[in-house]
Amino acid sequence: MTRFLIAFTIMALIVSCAEQKKKEEKQMDKPLTSRTWWKEGILYQIYPQSFKDTDGDGFGDFRGVIKNLDYLESLGINMVWMNPFFKSPLVDNGYDVSDYRAIHPRFGTMEDFDAMLAGMHERGIKFVLDVVVNHSSIEHDWFKQSRSSRDNPYRDYYHWWPAEKGEPPYRHSLFDPEGGWDYDEKTNAYYLHTFAEEQPDLNWENPKVRQEVYDLMKFWAEKGVDGFRMDAFQFASKDTTYPEFPEGHEKDFIKWYGLRPQLHGYLNEMYHEVISKYDVFAVAEGAGSTFEDAHKLVDADRDELQMAYHFETVDISRTPEGYTLAEFKEVFTRWDKAFAEEGWIAIFLSNHDNSRMVSRFGNDSPEFRTVSTQMLNTFLLSMRGTPYTYYGDELGMTNMDMPTIEEYVDIDAKGKYQAALSKGEDLDAFMEELNYSSRENGRTPMQWDATENAGFTSGTPWKKVNPNYTEINVAAQEKDPNSVLSHFKKMTKVRKNNPVLVYGNYTLLQPEHEEIYAFTRELDNEKLIILLNFSETESEINLGEAEAVHSDNILINNYDSLNAEASSINLKPYQAVVISLK
Ligand code: GLC
Repeated sequence: MTRFLIAFTIMALIVSCAEQKKKEEKQMDKPLTSRTWWKEGILYQIYPQSFKDTDGDGFGDFRGVIKNLDYLESLGINMVWMNPFFKSPLVDNGYDVSDYRAIHPRFGTMEDFDAMLAGMHERGIKFVLDVVVNHSSIEHDWFKQSRSSRDNPYRDYYHWWPAEKGEPPYRHSLFDPEGGWDYDEKTNAYYLHTFAEEQPDLNWENPKVRQEVYDLMKFWAEKGVDGFRMDAFQFASKDTTYPEFPEGHEKDFIKWYGLRPQLHGYLNEMYHEVISKYDVFAVAEGAGSTFEDAHKLVDADRDELQMAYHFETVDISRTPEGYTLAEFKEVFTRWDKAFAEEGWIAIFLSNHDNSRMVSRFGNDSPEFRTVSTQMLNTFLLSMRGTPYTYYGDELGMTNMDMPTIEEYVDIDAKGKYQAALSKGEDLDAFMEELNYSSRENGRTPMQWDATENAGFTSGTPWKKVNPNYTEINVAAQEKDPNSVLSHFKKMTKVRKNNPVLVYGNYTLLQPEHEEIYAFTRELDNEKLIILLNFSETESEINLGEAEAVHSDNILINNYDSLNAEASSINLKPYQAVVISLK
């Protein structure tokens, strides 16, 4: 008996040592085995209704994208994420879907979609679909059925609160100043909507809803799409006991509504049902409120999502005075560190929910907009994480000045204005902030050339073209070797030719420097230093011996020269350089 016990213990020890070894090997192996196309890609975001109109209705369409496939290829990007183009009443510009398998006629037909996708694939460009399944439109057949009677089989596709229980516990709505529950007379009940009242939240706790979503994702994966961007996904799961949350909780609503524990299980299910079956990836909009949450989403061992993006950079920059360069660096450095060993993030400075990159983080005055956009593009394309470029940022398109509320059509801007009005806030100050950070100022039509309406449409554009299109446009910049566009193309090449920019370790230098963001990227024997002057004045940085630069090793520079003497470097306004320290 004793002999048996000893033998058993020895066996157990051997097994556990072998497991430990395997684990360590897997760990060591990780950076290599986890190399993949969606980490190495450079993503370009197309807001389809603002990109290129070919039928003169004033809205961009698939044919407009097809016409410009060579342009996309010339940028050096190899992934496109397109905002929703599904059938929709367009209350929130397509983020209210009434049929997930149909195209809104404004954008074209399914044949046009197929041709566009094929054209991208021929050019080595992958396609990322926007999947809007935290909510549908009230016009979706599921909701029409659901609201028709309490015993309809679709009733549980949405969240309902019977009125005989009294008023439901308060829930914040991002678009509706009156809150997240709406009363529906027909069945004497309230339904939940995290966004507009026309965007009822789907009930993810219902397995049938989840199966519907997996089926529609498979429908698009079978068509050949390569990735999914999960819209507003952190809100999908709810506590369906609908507890009371403390008063004022809406100020920190992600903490209360975001990433409920069940969500991880649903994502794991989605992984096994859809993601694992195709060569696709999924990226979540929103990453919860803690790194721990964010990690769980993208930890490869958990089989959930593959990438996430956080909102901290846009959150600190809602007003021009809102942040310092030191804070900006701190945010990016903290997120980089959190994902250094495990997981993957997206790097972005603007998108359809934010104002233009150069107006927010650079300097959009005629004197500095070229160099400052070049500097920001150098930054985006030299960080670890997949870079996301919003259409027009490769040209330095700026915010359009929209000082009065009448110029806004966006549901978000209008809702916030109503809220400010009813709270008696200072409306001048409100409009100033809106003009600076609203998402609508950044949705203006793409500026193709200096002809009427920037060559975007032959009709009346759905949104006024930014008047600066006569100077900022593709045609002019294609001819100019020093343009923002030419620099963007050079920079995508630099990223592609230097895997150290994708996988290399990131180290921040001189965190307290008030004007310059300096960091290194290192992989095997490669080491690059990136120096970015975020100010409109010249600025000096003294690097130590280890980082002494040699001007022969400059990979990219948005000025003709670099004023460097050994380790002391003087950067011109918004100068951006990437230098090899080999
Ligand atoms: C996401 C989208 C945004 C949309 C909202 C509701 O945040 O990015 O544009 O309004 O979800 O779908």
